[in-house]
Amino acid sequence: MKFSGSHILSISQFDRNDIERVFEVADRMVPYAHRQRVTKVLDGAILGNMFFEPSTRTRVSFGCAFNLLGGEVRETTGFETSAIAKGESLYDTARVLSGYSDVIVMRHPVSGSVAEFAAASRVPVMNGGDGANEHPSQALLDLYTIRKELQHQGRSDLDGLRIAMIGDLKYGRTVHSLCKLLCLYKNVTVTLISPDELKMPEAIVEQLREAGHTVQESDVMEGSISKVDIAYSTRIQEERFASPAEADLYRGRYRLNQAIYTRYCEPNTVIMHPLPRDSRTEANELDNDLNDNPNLAIFRQADNGVLVRMALFALTLDVADQVDKAARDVNWYTERRF
Ligand code: CP
Repeated sequence: MKFSGSHILSISQFDRNDIERVFEVADRMVPYAHRQRVTKVLDGAILGNMFFEPSTRTRVSFGCAFNLLGGEVRETTGFETSAIAKGESLYDTARVLSGYSDVIVMRHPVSGSVAEFAAASRVPVMNGGDGANEHPSQALLDLYTIRKELQHQGRSDLDGLRIAMIGDLKYGRTVHSLCKLLCLYKNVTVTLISPDELKMPEAIVEQLREAGHTVQESDVMEGSISKVDIAYSTRIQEERFASPAEADLYRGRYRLNQAIYTRYCEPNTVIMHPLPRDSRTEANELDNDLNDNPNLAIFRQADNGVLVRMALFALTLDVADQVDKAARDVNWYTERRF
């Protein structure tokens, strides 16, 4: 794909070379994200960061990534502080805000709304999650993390990957985008573990099968995570259910803790989760007793989000090859944290 000036709306836009390009640029962002070097390559540029659903990681890491490239961030959070609450259309909002920004990131509760917004925008728009549809930057950082974790184990290839996805696969947009991304690779075994009512949409299962992958579906976790490289847990997406009571029917159905991991998983199985994990007693899908397990990659995943989102900005705004030219060492105290 041509990155320069493009919207990033769906994983379907990417081919395997594009993914390699994103990962190669993300690798080069490490000294900046790790506070060893400072770049001003986006000095003067403005990100419009518009989040109409709750978010911690996506909103802050997109903003942080833009700041780390030298740009400034303007935010709108929630409908109640936006003129959308007064009846303004997505079309008008996009026309107006794209006059104030060089690039826009948007999260919205309705599937397809970010694409509708992008169609009216005069600047590139990135999808920070649209309803139950897609979360493309999350899938990119997930695959980037999988690649790094496997490299750490001495494996260089994503082909042949064995991954289990656990939880709410019907409404979980991160797993929808991740499945689409895995279709670019070869010979992947995907084990889909969910209650029957929350199964992965059939169209995505079909896409995986058409890519030549092995797809297994189960409603039981323990026996299904015994031969996987990656156990990818997800939250019950209660905001997509008709009522909290309906979500309660499924909350806590799958709980991974250290005892289950030790008993059922291979010793190197990497544990992932897009976060937030629901740590309330009634859910507790990833127990805190996994926090010292070296294969728990959830916080490395969140850190990698900054690298991947820096790469997306650098490519979309066409400065990927200028980042190092506009750089210097940091001159403040930086405690080791990565
Ligand atoms: N993974 C993710 O989308 O997290 P947030 O909802 O905190 O952005």
